[in-house]
Amino acid sequence: MEEKRNTREDCLMPQPWLVFLALALGLIYMDPFELGPLGGYDYRPVKAHDIAPYKEVMEKWRADNGSKLRFGRLEFVDEVFGPESLEFDVKGRGPYAGLADGRIVRWMGGALGWETFSLVSPNWTEMVCANGVYSTTPLQHKKEKLCGRPLGLRFDKVTGELYIADAYHGIMVTRAEGGLATPLASHVNGNPIIFANDLDLHSNGSIFFSDTSMRYTRKDHFIILLEGEATGRLLRYDPPSKTTHVVLQGLAFPNGVQLSKDQSFLLFTETTNCRIMKYWLEGPKTGELELFANLPGFPDNVRMNEKGQFWVAIDCCRTPAQEVLSQHPWLRSIYFKLPLKLSFLGRMISMKMFTVICLFSEDGEVLEVLEDRGGEVVKLVSEVREVAGKLWIGTVAHNHVATLPFPFQEEVVVLS
Ligand SMILES: *[C@@H]1O[C@H](CO)[C@@H](O)[C@H](O)[C@H]1NC(C)=O
Ligand SMILES: *[C@@H]1O[C@H](CO)[C@@H](O)[C@H](O)[C@H]1NC(C)=O
Ligand SMILES: *[C@@H]1O[C@H](CO)[C@@H](O)[C@H](O)[C@H]1NC(C)=O
Repeated sequence: MEEKRNTREDCLMPQPWLVFLALALGLIYMDPFELGPLGGYDYRPVKAHDIAPYKEVMEKWRADNGSKLRFGRLEFVDEVFGPESLEFDVKGRGPYAGLADGRIVRWMGGALGWETFSLVSPNWTEMVCANGVYSTTPLQHKKEKLCGRPLGLRFDKVTGELYIADAYHGIMVTRAEGGLATPLASHVNGNPIIFANDLDLHSNGSIFFSDTSMRYTRKDHFIILLEGEATGRLLRYDPPSKTTHVVLQGLAFPNGVQLSKDQSFLLFTETTNCRIMKYWLEGPKTGELELFANLPGFPDNVRMNEKGQFWVAIDCCRTPAQEVLSQHPWLRSIYFKLPLKLSFLGRMISMKMFTVICLFSEDGEVLEVLEDRGGEVVKLVSEVREVAGKLWIGTVAHNHVATLPFPFQEEVVVLS
């Protein structure tokens, strides 16, 4: 009698721990209390198709065992916050920097220091927008649209005007004397551009720029990476007709944009796919898109030096566990809904990020790799500008600009 009842209950009631597990997984998946890092988002992860296999890329990658980038110097500490893009004007003044508080500032030398050169929003006020170190944190998210977030800067070397890619306001231009920026391209085909990221100027006046996503704005850029969504575009603004055109679509986090020296092609980074793409503008391959280089981590801006070579800033590195997640959207659905901090979830898949900057030839050959392997000095890099024997390194979230003499000399390090 006793035994029989037990058996029947066993059938109706599976192991309690199984019930618990199923419930827990269900709860995590549904995340009804929005506890996970993706709480509140319509999270639609997709499979990564275009990313090269981890092993293939890492085996070939030339590491910088000397970790030379750690000899970088941090300058202007606590004077600039989140200087993502750096630029120098026709008179050689600079750097100019686009900050997390929405301003574009320029360095006027020791006596004058930093001055505000341009604003992208007429509604910018010091009280609301100028939040120092907090402007690089989520505390600024609600204000970013109002204050602006200039991510890409380029001077027109002829007119001296500054062209800006602002994450929230699109492509804008500021007179050579500075002041409030004028909007140029904020819509394409009648729809607003919600995440302009970087730009470059063609000598015929056209502006090529990246539009990172059609679904998420800058403050949610992490979700784009976690989803693997590919609604990003390469756009072109033509001043004569004042129109914006879609050049390429279906891109996975298009980010930095750089024309080649002879303007026969342009490069853009695809951050989610850890690679640089090459788009032909002239010659027999006009209109074709090809791979320029696979990278060990997540690239941001690309900038050309005087020799026509390309510096790229990379947050490194990919990991085997992250590759498994990128291939299995359902795993990511569960994993990133765990009620834990994103930074912790990242560490669990050994995403201990550090900085790599890399110089490529016009043909995509690696010429130089500089790393800060311990993540000691140069962190969260966004852009590298090589000017007169010196690298200027921007960061999206820290309170300084990093510099390093280049070409790098071992002797200097031994002596100091
Ligand atoms: C760097 O270190 C790795 C692993 O320790 C080694 O395989 C590689 O040959 C080294 N590279 C250089 C340039 O010394
Ligand atoms: C500035 O504020 C006005 C009035 O609230 C608003 O209409 C306008 O869109 C704002 N401009 C920007 C660039 O945010
Ligand atoms: C400038 O050149 C680019 C690349 O060839 C082309 O796509 C664009 O239409 C040109 N712009 C103008 C205004 O002619």
